[in-house]
Amino acid sequence: MAELTQIELTQIEVNHAEMTAANRGALLAAARAAQSSAYAPYSNFPVGAAVLVSDGSIYRGCNIENASFGLTVCAERVALFNAISDGRLDIVAVAVVTSAPKLCKPCGACRQVIAEFSRADNPIIVLSATQSGETEMQTITALLPDTFTLL
Ligand code: THU
Repeated sequence: MAELTQIELTQIEVNHAEMTAANRGALLAAARAAQSSAYAPYSNFPVGAAVLVSDGSIYRGCNIENASFGLTVCAERVALFNAISDGRLDIVAVAVVTSAPKLCKPCGACRQVIAEFSRADNPIIVLSATQSGETEMQTITALLPDTFTLL
């Protein structure tokens, strides 16, 4: 078995270059595709998310509900955990889409998880979009200032 080493986020080279329109379009399209896989029989509120990493790769996620409601996992965390479990800690942006008429931003729990992988000098970008095409782009720092940290 490979030896486990301490992960040091500060050593990771992240290219958080300005998100291009092409980047945004690809990320939102991936989030929209992920939304169609949502398992949301209890809320009927399907959510799609997509995570962009520094080489342009995109990881998807959808909300996955459970009859024991508290076990539900949000789309953003599923997408993030897909990226992290593939060894990708160099997260540039997270997109979230719903079918609601107003913009939906990540919940508090997801903000904390996004913040875990964000760097103060180069914060992760959060992109939200409605079905009708309204979009908003913010940093995770704006969405969750004064984040709890241990390290
Ligand atoms: N949900 C997400 O997927 N992301 C969020 O940021 C907030 C809420 C999901 C959880 C649940 O399946 C449904 O939306 C309604 O709360």
